[in-house]
Amino acid sequence: MGIPAQQKLLGKKILITAGGTREKIDPVRYITNNSSGKMGIALANASAKMGADVTLVSTFAVEGNFKNIITDTAKDMEKVVKANLFEQDCVIMAAAVSDYRVKNYSEQKIKKGENEGLTLELVKNPDILMEISAMTTPHPNPLPKGEGDCDLCKPIIVGFCAESENLLENAKTKIKNKGCDYIVANDISRKDIGFNSDENEVYIIDKNLNINHIEKDSKENIAFKILENIFE
Ligand code: C5P
Repeated sequence: MGIPAQQKLLGKKILITAGGTREKIDPVRYITNNSSGKMGIALANASAKMGADVTLVSTFAVEGNFKNIITDTAKDMEKVVKANLFEQDCVIMAAAVSDYRVKNYSEQKIKKGENEGLTLELVKNPDILMEISAMTTPHPNPLPKGEGDCDLCKPIIVGFCAESENLLENAKTKIKNKGCDYIVANDISRKDIGFNSDENEVYIIDKNLNINHIEKDSKENIAFKILENIFE
């Protein structure tokens, strides 16, 4: 292991999402994606080693020194993330959330029909990252003049950005559109890093569009470096 754990996050609460959401078609079928969840799990392990109180919201069970809440669909994950949002110091959305879900879930297993084709209608899922970035909560003590919501009461919100082309351009557009505090961008066109790989290479972009390059390394070491960067 590269970076010492240092207990730098003692007293911090961190919620991390991981894995690909599963959008149900019928009781036995669903739409999902190729996400292994490895980066999110590495972040959960690294945060715990650095002393944080960690909640991992994942699409499959994960053992570790953290609380694990298992979710299924994007709507399910949205509910859990929003319900736990304002007790966190930081929320990291590393999950690959499906952009769409099936409009009409079939209670019964869909039978093979006479037709050659089958059409599924999809509807847009909520963008969890965008929605939580826009959420505010009243300050516990009245603000000067007693009005307004408090940005200080919000956790630091971090999103991921997986792109196969124009990585930094798209990541800069994404941080503006989503309204989060940081975007961690990685290039999924490369076979040696990213999706399903044990290694990654990322760029961390902040709201002022400052870019910090983290060179290729194990996902565990990348996770430590991301956390060091966010909490420096
Ligand atoms: O829009 P795109 O999928 O590229 O954005 C990726 C980031 O947004 C990730 O942090 C992902 O967890 C989050 N996301 C989300 N809800 C969605 C789609 C993506 O929170 N419906």
